[in-house]
Amino acid sequence: PAPGWTAEADLVVVGSGIAGLTVALRYTELEPDAKVLVVTKDVLSSGSTRWAQGGIAAVLDPRDTPEEHLNDTLIAGVGLCDVRAVRTLVTEGPGALRRLIERGARFDRTPDGRLQLTREGGHRRSRIVHAGGDATGAEVQRALIEAVRARPAIEVIEHALVLDLLKDARGRARGVTLHVMGEGARDGVGAVLARAVVLATGGMGQVYAATTNPVVSTGDGVALALRAGAVVRDLEFVQFHPTVLWLGADSTGQQPLISEAVRGEGAYLTDHEGNRFMADAHELADLAPRDVVAKGIMRTMRATGRDHVYLDGRHFGRRKWETRFPTIYAVCREHGIDPVTEPIPVAPAAHYASGGVRTDLRGRTSIDGLYACGEVACTGVHGANRLASNSLLEGLVFAERIAEDVHAARPAPGDPVPSEAASGLVDPRIRPRIQAHMSRGASVLRSRESLRATAKALLDARWTPVEVPPRTESWEAANLLTVATVLTGAAAARLETRGSHWREDHGTRDDNEWLGHLDVTLTEEGLRMTYT
Ligand code: SIN
Repeated sequence: PAPGWTAEADLVVVGSGIAGLTVALRYTELEPDAKVLVVTKDVLSSGSTRWAQGGIAAVLDPRDTPEEHLNDTLIAGVGLCDVRAVRTLVTEGPGALRRLIERGARFDRTPDGRLQLTREGGHRRSRIVHAGGDATGAEVQRALIEAVRARPAIEVIEHALVLDLLKDARGRARGVTLHVMGEGARDGVGAVLARAVVLATGGMGQVYAATTNPVVSTGDGVALALRAGAVVRDLEFVQFHPTVLWLGADSTGQQPLISEAVRGEGAYLTDHEGNRFMADAHELADLAPRDVVAKGIMRTMRATGRDHVYLDGRHFGRRKWETRFPTIYAVCREHGIDPVTEPIPVAPAAHYASGGVRTDLRGRTSIDGLYACGEVACTGVHGANRLASNSLLEGLVFAERIAEDVHAARPAPGDPVPSEAASGLVDPRIRPRIQAHMSRGASVLRSRESLRATAKALLDARWTPVEVPPRTESWEAANLLTVATVLTGAAAARLETRGSHWREDHGTRDDNEWLGHLDVTLTEEGLRMTYT
């Protein structure tokens, strides 16, 4: 639809988690006279950041080194990390974290005032800072929203779903179109014009039936980038969090997370007989990288014919559960489980997209003036499997780099030309069907047959027999269908098992053939996949 209203800014940031708000704050620090528009699909706090439990990984212990953090990240990423990107992450991480503290975030501290550090899967050192015990994301989101609200140069438009990228005659990003609901004069479809655009729209966990992601995580940024012609990379690497509270096989939508930090503090996994199945599976046992633990759980579930396993933290005692893990303790009690007296039933669920819109070390995508940051981006730091608590860190570090790059580049404004690729509308009632097909055939364990069946089901689902109303849900369904199709295609193409991509029919890692990336673009002829 044609835009009914227009707004202008120097920079438009799409998304309001740690990545988006940090870009906005840093940019207005560098250019106090600039105007930044933050647009967000729901309210400022509705994205994934506020659900993060474990924390933020950073080298703060004098016994730890950036080199060790780099090594742990590279091992978790199973050969596909970009070493330069990881080096940037681990060396700039501690400074970025300190600036987050200066911006108002309050983390848990030891009695003598030092930041409290814990461990999570794949980390050989204690280097995870946390807040409120297990409510790190909520504190980060609170602090950033307060900082943004206090800065008049940053304007926020809520209930604004991004539709498409606007480009000028030279193909440079010059803004976005939006669908806004109930925001006064800016209601319905409008356009925001800017010198540069930052996508910070988060992930796509809602493409699966059970996920730790909130309802808004529908892959909007990746779908927009594809329509705009940008390169998307590594979409087959979807990380499944090993320990998500198991609420029954029929439980769908956002499921409660049981942080890895619970294992970091000494809880362990068992089967229904109480056997500790991770003890012999990896040298780090229950604290192996996330993909290894998820696979260990899946194998145990298959061997025992059960649909969940248990996480045992009874030995913590009530006081530790209440003080160190208040969020998890409360959610378990809400569901009738007392982790002090019984082990917690858990199973893997979709958690994090390690791939996304391909960027360089400054967050630049393949389209001039379009940046991507946070989960929507593929900076190269996660490879085939993200290391725990590196995601909030990535959001922080690369957000600052993007702000600095936009500031340094000072892109001139240019008039946008009408875009040819327009986001489509899909009957929102197919959303649960997409999720069911993806969970059945393209989730933790994949095969040629399962992926073929999924691709066919997604193709059939495209057919919409009804007039679809222009509502957020209809555009979201279109985005889910797009990202599900690309993800399934990439998973079918990668004929090996690596990190979080597990092929039943190609069960081993193949460094001869597959030590590269699958880049996807959408062309007039359809999806084009290139192996690089
Ligand atoms: C967790 O707390 O287990 C999640 C941390 C992460 O996803 O990095």
